[in-house]
This record gives sequence, structure tokens and C-alpha cells, in this order.
Amino acid sequence: MNPSNEIDPTILVIFGISGSLATKKLIPSLFQLYKKQLLPEKIVIIGLSRQKIDLNQFVNGLNLQTKDNIEAEYLNKFKTIFTFIDFEPSNVEDFHSLSNSINQINQNFQSKNTNLLFYLSIPPNIFSTVVKNLGLSGLNKPDKGLESKILVEKPFGYDLISAKKLIEDTKMYFKEDQIYRIDHYLAKDTAQNILTFRRFNPLFQTAWNNQHIKKIKILALESIGIEGRAKFYESIGALRDLIQSHLLQLMALTTMTLPKELSNKDAIHLARHDILSNIKSFKDYDEVSKNVIRGQYASYREEVGNPNSMTETYASITIEIENSIWKGIPITLSTGKAMKEKRTEIVIDFSASHEEAVNQLTFRIQPNEGIDICLTVKQPGLDRKTEVVTMDFSYKQSFDNYNIQESYEKVIIDALREDNTLFATSDEIIDTWNILQPIMDYWSQSQNDLIIYANGSEEIGP
Ligand SMILES: NC(=O)c1ccc[n+]([C@@H]2O[C@H](COP(=O)([O-])OP(=O)(O)OC[C@H]3O[C@@H](n4cnc5c(N)ncnc54)[C@H](OP(=O)(O)O)[C@@H]3O)[C@@H](O)[C@H]2O)c1
Repeated sequence: MNPSNEIDPTILVIFGISGSLATKKLIPSLFQLYKKQLLPEKIVIIGLSRQKIDLNQFVNGLNLQTKDNIEAEYLNKFKTIFTFIDFEPSNVEDFHSLSNSINQINQNFQSKNTNLLFYLSIPPNIFSTVVKNLGLSGLNKPDKGLESKILVEKPFGYDLISAKKLIEDTKMYFKEDQIYRIDHYLAKDTAQNILTFRRFNPLFQTAWNNQHIKKIKILALESIGIEGRAKFYESIGALRDLIQSHLLQLMALTTMTLPKELSNKDAIHLARHDILSNIKSFKDYDEVSKNVIRGQYASYREEVGNPNSMTETYASITIEIENSIWKGIPITLSTGKAMKEKRTEIVIDFSASHEEAVNQLTFRIQPNEGIDICLTVKQPGLDRKTEVVTMDFSYKQSFDNYNIQESYEKVIIDALREDNTLFATSDEIIDTWNILQPIMDYWSQSQNDLIIYANGSEEIGP
């Protein structure tokens, strides 16, 4: 692939360039793409910050790795695509000046079509202000020849009401196809493989329903805690942080009806929406309490300096899809911090006629990316005893030079190529909050259900 030839000249504006996401993920990913010559030849990155930024100091501070002189030369060239502007996101005048700078750069490009991308790598509480000011300064519909889009980071709202408000605020100025809501989990090779695996292996395709599957479990466990991000985590918790976005999206990829063509973006969006909008809602608090677990690791309260914190660092929900294909199948989504090990996987248990038989398919999203199939076989010898054995596909073993591609590289390239398959639509966002709102309501009323677990625990039920 050489997208640099396919991609129009690009102006990428990064709000919050000094922040943790931009410095740890976005710019290193851009540098990787630059080294691989996957960015368009004509590209300018405008970094916005309320502080004055010195280019050399900033780039040197990023510690971008170069393994030889050639890469060091790339790094010097990479610096030349940046320009920094002191910028106050609440000041609409600054947006007018930004618009002038953009028009000037575009004139220099002498291009008929230029991508104009606004990456909102800023705290969620200023999203709406930035979107509004982009609209008021005309940057949502810029000059002829410029195509503007916004890339928005999760969380998409805080609850159902705030998500709806954010969607309404954004819709006032941007059309749905201009908005790219990022879920970088969906950009992982292993997550993308779910649809490909399902499409190209008829052995499993025919058994992909409630006649043959008895339960599905999706896990995202981390061994690390909150790593000093106390303020952020206290206001978010595990349910909003991981289940609202990544885990519900992985669930939708696992259970959605496959469209005829995997390249049909609209069909994929509709199929995901169809699943997410058909999750059976919890009728009352009794149903919530039976199907939901919240936990907090033992040292959390001390770490955040809040002895009464009820913020969950572990959340597990069991849900059911109300359609003829999946009705009756429990699907459990669990995520936790400070667990025994780091592990993200999707485990599908097939029904077997014998209690002791195990027939299980596991997508290992990370680490040790791959797929396991557990089969029940007869032990060798005269007895009829059975044993569970594993067939193992590992990306590392099967593909020479397998390197995990940083998901932000894929996110950036897809946005530049206007491929929004991996990005969540406003319908999907509303669906996910509809599922979670009764749980958040219940948790706001209840005090007794929080389980304190030891740091380094195994996953907690069900
Ligand atoms: N960090 C991650 O790994 C991660 C992962 C997934 C999603 N996200 C999401 O990505 C976004 C950025 O995350 P982050 O961790 O980089 O955020 P951050 O470090 O808290 O903030 C990013 C930058 O935004 C600017 N900013 C902060 N408060 C502001 C305010 N009140 N008004 C105007 N500008 C302000 C600051 O830049 P200046 O002071 O230079 O102006 C700051 O460096 C957030 O929406 C977050 O939820 C982050």
C-alpha cells in the first residue's frame, strides 16, 4: 500500500498538542507513518496550545526513536511539517486567525482538494466550545477545495443526556459524514480480523447463533492501576472508560449480521447499530443488580486521596441481544484495572451434548495476538476418557516480521482516506448509553454493591 499517492494534500490541526494523547500516541504514530512514507507529500500539521511552543524543544522532548542516520534525517524533515500557534479554544477570534493561516497554507499547496482535519485531543468538557467556534468562524464549511472533518476522542458524553447534547451541538455545524468518533480498539489487527474470520470460515459461520453457542465473554483486563490519572479516572470509572466504547464495539463486531461486502462502510455501521439497539434493557434495579458487578482495587482510594470514592475500577455486565439469532445467550463484558494480568479477549463457548466437553473459540486481541480453539478429544489408550486440547494460531508465529501496528496509525490513515468504517456513528453512541444508563442510575442510588478486590486479583464472576 502506498496511500501517500492516494491521499489529497492535508492540513492536520491538532487541538491539545501538548497533552498526553498527542505527545504519547498521535505524534509518534505520525512519525511512524512519515518514515514509512505513508503520509501525503503535501502535509502541514498545525499544533494548537495555550502555551508558546518551541519546535525543537517540543520534538526533542518526545524522545522519538531513530535507529540510524537515515531515520535521524527523517526526524529532521518531520519537524519541518509542523507549525505551532498560541491558541485559546474559547476565543472565537483565534479561530478566525487560524482560518487565515489555513487558507494561506492551502494557497501554497496549490491544490484543488485539500483534507482539513481537526483532531480534538482535548478534555471532553471543551469539545462543544471548540465545535461551536469552528462553526462560527466558518471552518466547518471552509473555502472551496478544502474538505473539513473533525476527529473526536472518547468519551463521547458522560451519560445518555450529555451524549445526546454533544451530538446535537456537533450536528449544528457538522454533518454526520464530517465527524470521525475514534475507537482505536477497532483499529487493532486482531479486532479487524473478527469480521474477516467470520466471513471466510464457513465452518464457524453456520454455527454462529443461539442454536450452537451457549455464551460469549469479552474481557479487557489490565495489570496496571490508574497510573496517577486520579482526576480523570475519578470522573470516569471502568464502565464509561472501557465498556461504553471498546467492549460494546467488540461485542457488536462479534455478533452483527455480516453484510454482503465487508468493504461496505454504511452496511457495517447499520449492522453494528442493529445489534447495539437490540440489547434487552434492564427493567428495574433488581435486574441490574443481578447482571452487573462493580469493584474497586484495594489501594485505589488511597491513590486518589478520596476515602469515600465509589468509582469502579472493575465492571462486568451481562446482557442479551433480543433478536432471533442471539436470544437467550448471555454475553458478559468485563474490564478491570490492577488485575493479575493484562489480557483482552473474546471467548465463545459452543454448546456440547456432554457436560464435560469444552468447545471454545478465543480471539486473543492482546497480548500474544491470535486465535485459540479448544476441542475435546479422546485421550490415547484403552479408556474412553476425554481431554481438552488447544489449537493455537499466533500472529507472531504465522507472519514473518509481524509487528503490532500502533492503532493510531490506522486511525489517522483511515481519516485521511475518508474511510469511516472504524469510527462510531451517533446512532451507535446513543445505543451504548441507552444500555448503560440504567446501570449508572442504579449505582448512583446504591452503596452496598461495591466489591473491594485485592490488587492482582483474577477476574471477578459471574
Ligand atoms: N491520554 C490518553 O491516552 C487518551 C486515551 C483515549 C482517549 N483520550 C482522550 O483524548 C483527549 C485528550 O486526552 P489527553 O490525555 O491528552 O488530555 P489532556 O492531557 O488532559 O489535555 C490535552 C491538552 O488540552 C489542553 N487543555 C486542557 N484543559 C484545557 C482547557 N480547560 N481549555 C483549553 N485547553 C485545555 C492542554 O493544552 P495546552 O495547555 O497546551 O493548551 C492539554 O495539554 C481527551 O478527550 C481524552 O479523554 C486520551
